[in-house]
Amino acid sequence: MPQVSPKSLLDVHPRELKGIIKEIPTLPVIYQKLFQKMQDPNVSVPQIAEIIAQDQALTAKILHLVNSAFYGYSKEIKTISRAVVILGFQSVRSAALAISVFDFFSGEDSNQIDMTQFWKHSIACGSICKILAAEVRISQQEEAFVVGLLHDTGKLIEKRYFPADFDELVQAAQEQEMTWFDMEKALFQINHATIGKAIFRAWDFPSSVVDAVQFHHSPDSSTKFPQLTALAHLADYMAYPLGYPSPGGKAPEGCSPGALDILGLSLDDCQRLVPKIEEDLEGAMEILKLV
Ligand SMILES: [Fe+2]
Ligand SMILES: [Fe+2]
Repeated sequence: MPQVSPKSLLDVHPRELKGIIKEIPTLPVIYQKLFQKMQDPNVSVPQIAEIIAQDQALTAKILHLVNSAFYGYSKEIKTISRAVVILGFQSVRSAALAISVFDFFSGEDSNQIDMTQFWKHSIACGSICKILAAEVRISQQEEAFVVGLLHDTGKLIEKRYFPADFDELVQAAQEQEMTWFDMEKALFQINHATIGKAIFRAWDFPSSVVDAVQFHHSPDSSTKFPQLTALAHLADYMAYPLGYPSPGGKAPEGCSPGALDILGLSLDDCQRLVPKIEEDLEGAMEILKLV
């Protein structure tokens, strides 16, 4: 895949990011259509099923996923209409989204980082966000899984479009035992969180997702969706000791006390939730079969 910009990440100023991101292809139209339809309160099940049916590969993958342990439904679901009725519009949209993003970045290989480990970290964060969101009853329940799943997408953009800088970043972070985010701060003017914000804004994702991705390493700076952002931050922190670290950098030293405050959680509360999270993680990893 060619670079979208002849520039190096070293020279990219945050203001220029929008122009660069514009040249990155968008997610398939089918996802945009699904997204728009699901925003419409009067949308019907057949309308959603009809959009999904236009893409046979997507249909097959959604059915595979909804029949996996992840959704925990014991009877086989054979049609998209049934999946929408049983699991709800939002769950089917999450599945379609996860599949679209995985397809978009499929075929990525790297000498620098273990891509399976990258996806495991992403899925684990999605799962942790989902469990914590239910526990603290935040209003963005549905977005929680999506935000966890996609929080580090900016790293994939760095890898695909700025491969030389990406290699340098990973090597330096490992040699100097620094986190990815701190190494980005040391080397560049932009980081994977700001790149993630730019890409999801360009792809018309809800502002809650854009905000949480942007501030997942600086949750105290989020003013619009502080709870969802705090969730993404906490899930990222928790994923490391649970055995799902992000490859390429050191684990974060700690978790923002502000993020815990916003959620009304202590680290002991998080520890108590670990068995529940581990149970969910087992099913969630089914998504890996789609990568
Ligand atoms: Fe991150
Ligand atoms: Fe992460």
